[in-house]
Amino acid sequence: MPVNLKTLFKKKEKGEKITIVSTYDYWSAKLCDEVGIDCILVGDSLGTVIKGEKHTLSVTLEEVIYHTKCVMRGVKEAFVIADMPFMSYQVSLEKAVENCGRVIKETGANAVKLEGGEEIAEIVYRLRSIGIPVVGHIGFTPQSINVFGKPAVVGKRAEEAEKLRRDFKALEDAGAFMIVLESVPTSLTKELWEKSRSIVIGIGAGKFTDGQVLVFHDIVGLFEDFKPKFVRRYLEGAKLIKEALKNFKQDVLSGKFPSEEESYG
Ligand code: KIV
Repeated sequence: MPVNLKTLFKKKEKGEKITIVSTYDYWSAKLCDEVGIDCILVGDSLGTVIKGEKHTLSVTLEEVIYHTKCVMRGVKEAFVIADMPFMSYQVSLEKAVENCGRVIKETGANAVKLEGGEEIAEIVYRLRSIGIPVVGHIGFTPQSINVFGKPAVVGKRAEEAEKLRRDFKALEDAGAFMIVLESVPTSLTKELWEKSRSIVIGIGAGKFTDGQVLVFHDIVGLFEDFKPKFVRRYLEGAKLIKEALKNFKQDVLSGKFPSEEESYG
């Protein structure tokens, strides 16, 4: 059965955890869908994972649309969330609505994700009121990397924690159905989650949440450039692939490939 807002909230009510994977193409989305991952996030992390950039800032609206379309072709049941890239929703309310509407219309995604709290509440409210489900993202927000300087835990200091509480409330009051907490201390996540009406998803935020999100390439060990503390690798994908590539090269060089069975007549 296709995942939707109703089925996601049912899971929250029942205390069943929700799984979300960030990914960007047909085949990986199909694998996630086939094993019952609830949601696929077409994250702007594609800037680092796919484009090889140092951060997410260069990701364009066109790139998010392109990758979301690829993902949609691989999905039968998962709920697809498109991540709105830097400067696609910060310029004005009108531009934000126009760009989010474009993503939903052109890709068929089910929801959009926006980074920020109080400062984007008006946009969240407007999107929700015209029928676009919104995921909020607070804590460490990669689109503000130039303010943070480097990836950091957010909410350890009293004023940071207070700001996070205000952001969380502003997003919920504006109608965000889901809020991603990134790199937030476990105790603060627990406090926010215990009072939450929205679905709380963690990444580096501890276990007191309605679910977890990780990047596909991190889960299967394809992305080796860096490994944040909160990533768990379930496969050494890059090592296995390199082994296969070396074997292919070796077989070609030694004349073992192709064999007669792999040739025509
Ligand atoms: O861009 C992304 O993939 C994300 C998740 C890691 C939350 O924002």
